[in-house]
Amino acid sequence: MNPLQGKRIVLGVSGSVAAYKAADLASKLTQAGAQVEVVLSEGAEHFIAPLTFSALTGRRVHTSLWTDEAHVLHVGLGEGADAVVIAPCSANTLAKLAVGLADNLLTLTALAARGPVFVAPAMDGGMFEHPATQANLQILRQRGVRVLGPARGRMASGLVGWGRMLEPAEILGQLRLALAQGGPLSGRHVVVSAGGTQEPLDPVRYLTNRSSGKQGFALAQAALDLGARVSLVVGATAAALPTPTGAERTDVVTAAQMAEVVLQLAQTADALIMAAAVADFRPRQVQAQKIKKERLPQLELEPTPDILLAVAEARQRTGRPRVVVGFAAESENLLANAQDKLKRKRLSLLVANDITAPDAGFAVETNRVTLLWPDGRVEPLPLMTKSEVAEAVLARVVGLLEGG
Ligand code: C5P
Repeated sequence: MNPLQGKRIVLGVSGSVAAYKAADLASKLTQAGAQVEVVLSEGAEHFIAPLTFSALTGRRVHTSLWTDEAHVLHVGLGEGADAVVIAPCSANTLAKLAVGLADNLLTLTALAARGPVFVAPAMDGGMFEHPATQANLQILRQRGVRVLGPARGRMASGLVGWGRMLEPAEILGQLRLALAQGGPLSGRHVVVSAGGTQEPLDPVRYLTNRSSGKQGFALAQAALDLGARVSLVVGATAAALPTPTGAERTDVVTAAQMAEVVLQLAQTADALIMAAAVADFRPRQVQAQKIKKERLPQLELEPTPDILLAVAEARQRTGRPRVVVGFAAESENLLANAQDKLKRKRLSLLVANDITAPDAGFAVETNRVTLLWPDGRVEPLPLMTKSEVAEAVLARVVGLLEGG
């Protein structure tokens, strides 16, 4: 379901010191399942060897225009590509693209392209800000070329400014997002919650849980991959997780904050997936000062607002979100407890996992879940990566939204 899987991507590399980063991009695209055709300009060959790219992509790298097969090749490369990405795109190549020059295999391929074209400018000094470059970018944008970056920062000359090539992971994210458009969730708004909440006890202490946030982030990515607009509400995560490109992220700390944000977003959502491990209880009183060890407190707890119950109430009035998916992390009586949750929270689907299994639940990369449906159906899924679980859940969400 990763939209890069099986796609034919032409990666054009032009003459810039950032060419070394294109090797990383070629590797990442290949790992994402794309068939990567690398075209190097003559300038690029001064910075990086074709062998680097052929080793990373497992395919022949294209360089010169002046071979027997090159003229046929460029048309095939450009026409057959699902996307052409030029990264780094030097000021020189940018200018050539703007006027439609085709004096090397790279620019020729771009001119023959029928699919979307992306450029990631990379240039030093004030070249990016120069009116000539800006005018060229304007022309390219008007023509539908998507300009990725550049970022601001230190450049090879030591100058700081706009001109650094966007990081390969970001370029990959933008490509993934663009290729997902038109998918089965296009035009749909999906809200995903992820991570745990922290319920403060005093200014330095809080109650929380072992949620890593990984399953929630994977769900957000899977929804984006199907073309959805995604809001990601994030509590505490075990490590800093990269926000999937395209997700609109809101960070929260407590269950009360998460309730406020989720209820607001749910008003416009087609689907809500509550993967967050929301604390079920919190200290009744938050001490203004750090509690001293000499005065050991008796902790008094109170329930937090149940977000899914509040969503169910609002949904009865407004009909939104059409689809609500809950999670149940259980350490005993998995199915009985999950059935109870499904009914009480009036869910469209419940994803239950037994957190006592070593290969499922918090922190690990894999998950073994059982899907429970309101009509009593129980659907156990095999051990999968969290991304695969996310894809399986989103496939069900698509079915539910389509009325299946
Ligand atoms: O009741 P329990 O916390 O086990 O239910 C789990 C499901 O309910 C999860 O989908 C979780 O995100 C959601 N939940 C909630 N509000 C709470 C606690 C949990 O929406 N206060």
